[in-house]
Amino acid sequence: MKRLQIVFYLLLFVATPAAAQDITALQPIGSVISYARTENTISFVCSDNSQVRLTILAPDLIRVRAAFAKPIPAKDHSWAIAKDDWTTPRWNISETTGAVTVSTDEVEVVVSRSPLLIEFRDARTHQLINADERPMAHDAKGQLAGMMFDPKAGTFIAVSKKLGFDEHFYGLGEKAARLDKRRGFFVNWNSDTPGYTEGRDPIYQTIPFYLALQRGVAYGIFFDNSYRSYFDFGRSSQQRAWFGAEGGELNYYFFYGPSIKKILGRYADLTGHMPLPPMWALGNQQSRWSYYPDTMVEEVAREYRQRDLPLDAIHLDIDYMRGYRVFTFDSQRFPNPKALSDKLAGQGIKLITIVDPGVKHEPRGGGTDPRYFVFEQGLERNYFQHRSNGQLFVPRVWPGESVFVDYTLPEARRWWGDLHRVYTDNGIAGIWNDMNEPSDFVDQTGKNQLDVVSYDEGERTTHAKNRNTFALLMSRATYEGLERLRPDGRPYVITRAGYAGIQRYATMWIGDTNSTWDALALNIPMFTTLGLSGEPFVGSDVGGFIGRGNGELLVRSYQVSFLAPFCRNHKVIDGYDQEPWRFGKYYEDIIRKFLKLRYELLPFLYTTLEESHRTGVPVFRPLMLNYQDDPNTYNIDDQFMIGSNLLVAPILKPDVTRRLVYLPSGTWYDYWTNKKYAGGTMITVDAPLETVPMFVRGGAMIPTTTPQNYVGERPAAPITFNIYPDEKATAAGNLYEDDGVSPGYKRGLFRRTTVSGRRKNGGFSTSINSSEGQFNPGARQLKFAVKG
Ligand code: GLC
Repeated sequence: MKRLQIVFYLLLFVATPAAAQDITALQPIGSVISYARTENTISFVCSDNSQVRLTILAPDLIRVRAAFAKPIPAKDHSWAIAKDDWTTPRWNISETTGAVTVSTDEVEVVVSRSPLLIEFRDARTHQLINADERPMAHDAKGQLAGMMFDPKAGTFIAVSKKLGFDEHFYGLGEKAARLDKRRGFFVNWNSDTPGYTEGRDPIYQTIPFYLALQRGVAYGIFFDNSYRSYFDFGRSSQQRAWFGAEGGELNYYFFYGPSIKKILGRYADLTGHMPLPPMWALGNQQSRWSYYPDTMVEEVAREYRQRDLPLDAIHLDIDYMRGYRVFTFDSQRFPNPKALSDKLAGQGIKLITIVDPGVKHEPRGGGTDPRYFVFEQGLERNYFQHRSNGQLFVPRVWPGESVFVDYTLPEARRWWGDLHRVYTDNGIAGIWNDMNEPSDFVDQTGKNQLDVVSYDEGERTTHAKNRNTFALLMSRATYEGLERLRPDGRPYVITRAGYAGIQRYATMWIGDTNSTWDALALNIPMFTTLGLSGEPFVGSDVGGFIGRGNGELLVRSYQVSFLAPFCRNHKVIDGYDQEPWRFGKYYEDIIRKFLKLRYELLPFLYTTLEESHRTGVPVFRPLMLNYQDDPNTYNIDDQFMIGSNLLVAPILKPDVTRRLVYLPSGTWYDYWTNKKYAGGTMITVDAPLETVPMFVRGGAMIPTTTPQNYVGERPAAPITFNIYPDEKATAAGNLYEDDGVSPGYKRGLFRRTTVSGRRKNGGFSTSINSSEGQFNPGARQLKFAVKG
């Protein structure tokens, strides 16, 4: 055992990236010799034949590209980018002997000629926002090659920025870390990391986008480079925050706020807005590795209904398949999946199936009956990944020896998407994409895959470039397939891995967490961080995935997740059962209360989700997103907000029933008692297991409805606007509605109702101010309830 442990730690050590590279050893880019402009670019030629190009995309969005010792290539492609038809804003150039300045209405980019340093300033106040600490650099002499994961990947490139004394860093997607990333060092290399704990890095996803905030002013940087990349927010030096990658192009986008919400909107414009999933995706979901046979799935549904616990979906994990062959059903365990989905539909419950990228390697004559059509078709059409020597790449995953699809091939993506007919024909409502880092049991670090070549728009690039975008393209194939197969429905895809832009195709969960209090506490900064990274639809396995939980942990876990967009209880195969009733009636009753509250708050949750779709501002927010000028909020990891109005402060430790809660300035109402508080301070709140501290912002109107067993059970249920007057005795809110299932909302088939009110003559008068969109929700009662 001891030996095993040592080997394990050694492996961990090897898999952990070397400490921050010494980027001061890199070769700086040459000085500016000349420049030329086009309608929306300015390109600088440097003394070492390097080139730097600024592209003015919007008044607050500037792209920076650089090529070392060569011109910037004409080919310009990224899987992350959704928009390339920007309308060039007003901009101009001015110069002095020392610098060339590009200005838009919002931002000024000062390019010093020698050395070449870039500074971003506020165009109105000329205040410095962000400045290069040293010139952009590359590893011309191969000094860092020995430290690179794949020495053949390319040349290390880096950008170094001055680190502000009071600069805070946020975002970077899925990181097992606290909200404020200041002083942290992170690596991006999608990795299957079951049971990860705080500090484990990298984990499943790569979103090379971060936000920085200093004295209330924010900017964002999206380093669109899918190679293994590094972000150092002041770990290796107090002088700099740098980012770099082991290859590819130096290519980043600079977003100027000063508001974070504005940056998130721009980031969504650039990399894609999350489409609305079907409304039932906000319903409660239940999963297990694995429910089988079909009668057990029915049993789960029956328990939920008999116990009066709301439920919208059950997940089928890998054992529904015939020997883990994706796009098949095991004929003993699930002889008639259509009959099962129909039966469940009668109870308002949907089925979701897992689909992994590993296609069982089963050549003709593999001896099975029926033969495995997915492998045979893919092989015949040459859609699978190969090594650089032309050999088929054969990793090992659940089915044993497997193959992966080259999703960079458009026709392979189409084929994969169309294969989902097997599911849609059987009434399967959503697809869960897992293991798409891609995980390989031969070697989880990716070393076994390094010479795998992908088509990549004809460039035939290797794993070093394509690993981090593999899940993005797999989810894209899935999403687009579902769109074709059900043009009248909204696809619902869940993914584990991803790259920037993943929000266009999939929602996500944070992978194989532990059933521990530490893992629960990490939920909050991970959800808020994902929200700040362009991924609004997030959640985690409620109760934790690995290990044995207990009733108290499960209840506290629901008290975090009952307001997360993705609320799904899920458990590992050998874990102790943890459906809501498994620890007895006492805990079950509390869980019921919170699940019902989720359904009561559904109009509010859906309204907030639509806001995320439209504006890029997430549902599950850190306080600093709503209170950017309040430094007290900059590192709060144990509270969160839903939208702008609901503040939640869960208990994240065992045997604790009281905690401190920070209320930002303004008026706040205790959700349970309606007791009024003046914010701008810490308060102490009691929180026995039956409750979670929850506060509503004064000035809000929160739409709720009567709880239902599943979304859409009673479409005409009355809507109540719960009114929480502010200091001026006024309140306002809105309600978003659409059909909840079709893509019609994209064509204006929605209804946004704006309401407001004020105290008047001892009463409260409310008015429906405006109503936008062409959707007719039908007759339903609107009620108003004044709180406090
Ligand atoms: C991975 C997933 C987990 C799933 C299991 C079996 O560990 O993260 O959710 O249950 O695979 O498919």
